[in-house]
Amino acid sequence: MIAPQSVEQLLNAAVIEDVVGEYVALKRSGSRFKGVCPFHDEKTPSFVVTPTLGIYKCFGCQKGGNSINFLMEMENLSYAEAIRNLAKKYGIELIETGVKEDEAYKENQKLRENIQIVLDYAQKFFSENLTETEEGQTIGLEYFKERGYSQEIVKKWGLGYSPTAWEALATKAKNEGYTLETLELAGLLRKRENQGYYDLFRNRVIFPIHGVSGKVIAFAGRKMSSSDPAPKYVNSPETELYKKSEILYGIFQAKNAIKKEDKVYLTEGYTDVISLSQFGVENVVASSGTALTPGQIRLIRRFTHNITVVYDGDSAGIKASMRGIDLLLTEDLNVRVVALPDGEDPDSWCRKLGSDGFAKYLAENEKNFIFFKANLLLDAAGNDPIKRTEAIRDILESVANIGDPLKRNSLNQELSKICGTDETLLAVELSKIVKKKLTGKGEELLTELKQITQAAGIDLPREPLNDLNQERAFVKLLLLHGHEPFNEEQQVFDFAMSELSADENVFFTDPMCVKVVNMFFEMQQTGFQGSQYFVNHTDPEISAWAAGILSQGHLLSEAFAENYIYITHESDNFKHELMSIFVHLRRKKLDSLIQKKMELLKNSDVDIEEVLLHIVFLESIKTRISSEFGYADYKP
Ligand code: GTP
Ligand code: MN
Repeated sequence: MIAPQSVEQLLNAAVIEDVVGEYVALKRSGSRFKGVCPFHDEKTPSFVVTPTLGIYKCFGCQKGGNSINFLMEMENLSYAEAIRNLAKKYGIELIETGVKEDEAYKENQKLRENIQIVLDYAQKFFSENLTETEEGQTIGLEYFKERGYSQEIVKKWGLGYSPTAWEALATKAKNEGYTLETLELAGLLRKRENQGYYDLFRNRVIFPIHGVSGKVIAFAGRKMSSSDPAPKYVNSPETELYKKSEILYGIFQAKNAIKKEDKVYLTEGYTDVISLSQFGVENVVASSGTALTPGQIRLIRRFTHNITVVYDGDSAGIKASMRGIDLLLTEDLNVRVVALPDGEDPDSWCRKLGSDGFAKYLAENEKNFIFFKANLLLDAAGNDPIKRTEAIRDILESVANIGDPLKRNSLNQELSKICGTDETLLAVELSKIVKKKLTGKGEELLTELKQITQAAGIDLPREPLNDLNQERAFVKLLLLHGHEPFNEEQQVFDFAMSELSADENVFFTDPMCVKVVNMFFEMQQTGFQGSQYFVNHTDPEISAWAAGILSQGHLLSEAFAENYIYITHESDNFKHELMSIFVHLRRKKLDSLIQKKMELLKNSDVDIEEVLLHIVFLESIKTRISSEFGYADYKP
């Protein structure tokens, strides 16, 4: 065990904003720093670092602690590992005492450590094979030379070579005492059907893939002969340490440059990343040929909100990846595009232009994604009015993904010039599409709200849904629409019931609503039955009540009107209404939470600044509720 005085010394030396800053883009805010939480999905930054106390805290997911806790959480390290990691960084000698660390925890960590050890071993093996064996030199090194990679580049990116023999790595590792099972778990070997193992990478140049903190977590191997029928690239499978969808190639080497430039260039390939960095563009990563995943987008957002996609010069590829870009817009990133000339990829084009020429090319050809898409689609549509209408609608679909109404509005103005269409007409079309998308956003907001209120663990008194009208509105919505799909996975009924179960302290007051909701709960086992079932129910009380409620006018907006909540969107969107019931419910929790925080302020021994920050964050969530749900703030 590490001596307590060592831990104390370490915590005094560690600079929290530097430790966290390696993973999160922090912006100064008074005496603190703010950023987007790396531990959960969020749009409103709720992650605060307080240098004077050496701590971080997320008001969204409630995670918080000191530098050691941060590293444990971020890098999946044990307490001791995190300490050793920090001690190295700050050059502190640790005093060790004899007591053992927690056994169970250690076992799991041991596996990860062992995998890391064999990955490091393999990294060394591939490197040495490239530079110190004849096969590696004549095949691998020669290939890299042809591509213009200097020794320096080979070293910087840890490039290597895997021999042609089937068991080169397996044999050597075994002779040197490594356990082949561990190499298999690391994705380096495959098991033969009868017995023994063979190498996954053979006769390929090797590109190691680094995690955010710089450790090798996987490899990619490119084939050496174009006549080889095998795929051009072979990649490590997912392992305990390598989750494909969470990492981008080059992120470790690029992260400081990304923060400094507040911008990242996204390319497709390993060689694009290496070449661009060779030619002076250091803030570059690659998606490795696939569409970006939400995890990868989160990774980017830790460092910047500005992403420039560099497209190869073939229009087929551009069209295919357009859809993926919409996801970036949804995630609040500013997306720009640079297209390269026909037949060029980033690698070839920067080689042709050289550092200065390429930098100039990027600067001059960078376009806002929306305008880029508009030009591309409108060019393709030519003068055909039907095709032009389709194109415009498609463009507006993308614009609608942008969360900020001001940004949407200014894009709209520009677009009307590009499309030659009346601005008001475009704005009307756009707002229709935005409303449709609100359903999806509402789901997101609901989840975030659920996270906040659950993490805060506030104990609220049991309370009715809201008022009688809202209770009835809820039941009526289910009777009428329960069967319909809510999203790709759930029926409206399933969604509503799972949301209802998530809020333990909700209950219904209207005796008939209580009865029917209880029947709903039973239907979770037996299957949902809609309005007909209730209208034709053998219990006359139920059938009469159901008939009554179904013939009434619009219940929900009455409920809202009574509470002075104004619905400004079209109210025939039942999904949106259903969600607004739950959003509203959780908003009341937010209010209670804010109330509790306010009371804390009367206490002299609380950190007033922290409490205030928390309140500001909760208020900003309320603002988001208002803007995304289209009703004004609650008025007493
Ligand atoms: P070079 O041809 O050596 O310039 O490689 P490149 O990295 O530029 O490859 P390319 O432009 O053909 O493909 C872009 C990216 O898609 C690559 O970097 C890989 O990440 C991925 N990719 C291409 N081919 C394959 C393949 O056969 N298998 C896998 N898993 N990925 C591939
Ligand atoms: Mn290439």
